[in-house]
Amino acid sequence: MKGTYVITGASSGIGLALAERLAAVPDTHLLLTGRSLDKMEGIASKAIRPKLHGSSFADCFSLDLSSFASIEGFAEAVKKCVAGEGLDVIVGNAGLQDTQYRTTQEGFEMTWGSNHLGHFYLVRLLLPLFYECTEGKKDAQIIMVSSGTHDPARKTPVPPPKFDKIEDIATVPHIRVDPTLPEEDKKAQLAANEKEYNGLRAYSQSKLCNVFFAYELSRRLQGLCQAGGKGGSRKIYTIAYDPGWIPDTALMRNSVIRYLVPVLAPIIRMTSRMASTTEHTSLWMCKLVTGEVLPVPDGCYWSVDREERSSELSYDERLQKELWDMSCRFTRLGEELAV
Ligand SMILES: NC(=O)c1ccc[n+]([C@@H]2O[C@H](COP(=O)([O-])OP(=O)(O)OC[C@H]3O[C@@H](n4cnc5c(N)ncnc54)[C@H](OP(=O)(O)O)[C@@H]3O)[C@@H](O)[C@H]2O)c1
Repeated sequence: MKGTYVITGASSGIGLALAERLAAVPDTHLLLTGRSLDKMEGIASKAIRPKLHGSSFADCFSLDLSSFASIEGFAEAVKKCVAGEGLDVIVGNAGLQDTQYRTTQEGFEMTWGSNHLGHFYLVRLLLPLFYECTEGKKDAQIIMVSSGTHDPARKTPVPPPKFDKIEDIATVPHIRVDPTLPEEDKKAQLAANEKEYNGLRAYSQSKLCNVFFAYELSRRLQGLCQAGGKGGSRKIYTIAYDPGWIPDTALMRNSVIRYLVPVLAPIIRMTSRMASTTEHTSLWMCKLVTGEVLPVPDGCYWSVDREERSSELSYDERLQKELWDMSCRFTRLGEELAV
């Protein structure tokens, strides 16, 4: 029985390490994404395809989570690619941490727009594929890669989420420009606001949204399952995953705090179990997605190699639902899950 895995952001770091591990698993069909297809193909040929088990194979795709058109194009390509096979796992791993204020194609703040909204849209578009060709298949899984930075209690060097209402997370309030101002004043206000942009906070907030989304999705999928019909034909486990602190990925090399990394890395390695490596983290992610860790508690937060509690705020079901509803409005998807 083949397992079909979508891994976003498989061109480097944690996603690449996971793809390399899964390549060696028998009967695996990998669907791997990076923003550049050429780059992803090159990496697959060099690092992933040589490791493929005889019966497994890997397809590469271009996916830019900061563009709805790219997400829709990828979802269509996946539909064709897994026809007659269905989908078993989505690992929402791609992520970025911006230093300067930028926006997605649709005008959302880049970090939140890609890390959360892009993945939200993608998962919703791919969801029906989990219910195709289910006969004799094991349970399915959706893993949203979050980060310990979402939790103020973990006291990371990244400022934790701070917002009054859920809309503030998406639009970053100090970036808002008064639309009634004359053009010149708008530009001045925008320039002043952009200086105040805190890319690290935008990152921790996007990672909190990954947890909110995983919990809300898990509850809704459980509801579908209980209601029977097509949604009852398969159990889909949804979890939020914290890969730990891994200083040697591109994310850290490009981060605002990159200058602190050489100083912090040895201290964190010695004093905290937050520190990990791509080898260790990908080993555990591989165990999770191949069902070696069973039963994976549905709707849980998994930190590197064990289940843990996420931040207190992340369990707020009102906020989870508000984020869901807002994300539906922005992506023009219905609030109810339909498969
Ligand atoms: N490293 C850590 O310490 C750490 C800690 C906690 C959580 N995380 C999380 O772990 C995940 C992987 O991070 P990493 O450390 O492995 O970083 P990485 O090496 O920078 O990998 C990030 C991946 O995301 C892809 N990507 C970036 N922006 C994208 C976009 N707009 N659309 C689609 N794909 C995009 C990149 O592909 P291309 O550039 O080829 O497009 C790349 O494959 C992220 O979600 C990150 O937040 C990492």
